[in-house]
Amino acid sequence: MNPYDSQELLDQYLLFHYGSPEEILPYPGGPGSALDFPRRSVVENIDTTVSRRRALDLGCAVGRSSFELSVFCSEVVGIDSSEQFVAAAEYLRKRPELAYRRLEEGVISTELVARRPEYSNPERIRFETGDALNLDEGLGDFDVLHAANLVCRLPEPEKFLARLKYLVTVNGLLILTTPCTWLGEFTRPSNWPAEATHEWLANRLSGSFNLLNTKDMPFLIREHARKYQWGMAQASVWRRI
Ligand SMILES: C[S@@+](CC[C@H](N)C(=O)[O-])C[C@H]1O[C@@H](n2cnc3c(N)ncnc32)[C@H](O)[C@@H]1O
Repeated sequence: MNPYDSQELLDQYLLFHYGSPEEILPYPGGPGSALDFPRRSVVENIDTTVSRRRALDLGCAVGRSSFELSVFCSEVVGIDSSEQFVAAAEYLRKRPELAYRRLEEGVISTELVARRPEYSNPERIRFETGDALNLDEGLGDFDVLHAANLVCRLPEPEKFLARLKYLVTVNGLLILTTPCTWLGEFTRPSNWPAEATHEWLANRLSGSFNLLNTKDMPFLIREHARKYQWGMAQASVWRRI
């Protein structure tokens, strides 16, 4: 079973992707700069005033980054291996709102509503379940490939990196973010990078991509009212050569 297929994680990710700052972090002095990561991983890494053709959002989860990509890309494909994440993303593609529950503590939860960004273009998006390591050969290539916090969730990350040059058009952009959290439950240790994740990415991608930029990007996932995951993803933006 996909570890992301649980009601708890579905609710957590709907809040992570669509919750307002007040819904996620009602405490003054909390790490506010870490909010809104699924929007920022797109808009802070690419010039959204330039129109582009096809975008692929790999590991799209419940879809927020795909909605952001639809603002400036005429076609967006969002792919995730979790059927329930894709079902929620597809629900929001068809309808503007989706009710979900935010865990407060123990058995106590509150109903909230996830709202699709009004400025997005849902008719440009297609959500699909799929495996980033076994993508359909007919998927074609893309002007933008966004894969946020996916690479260290894959059993064979090297295989994923080797496929990227075939998925991105010449001059197209690749946006990768990773918290470099290598875990045996997702990737067996013999498949972890032997060097720091960024060096490993650079070594694997440099023949086909030029590195344009790197950036530290904080993110915040609320587990319950008094427990959060704060992480610092390393973002890198690459141009296909
Ligand atoms: C850490 S989450 C990141 C989700 C989203 N990009 C974000 O930034 O919120 C990793 C996502 O990758 C998905 N995933 C894991 N393995 C995958 C695979 N082999 N192919 C496609 N998606 C996968 C999970 O279901 C989950 O939605």
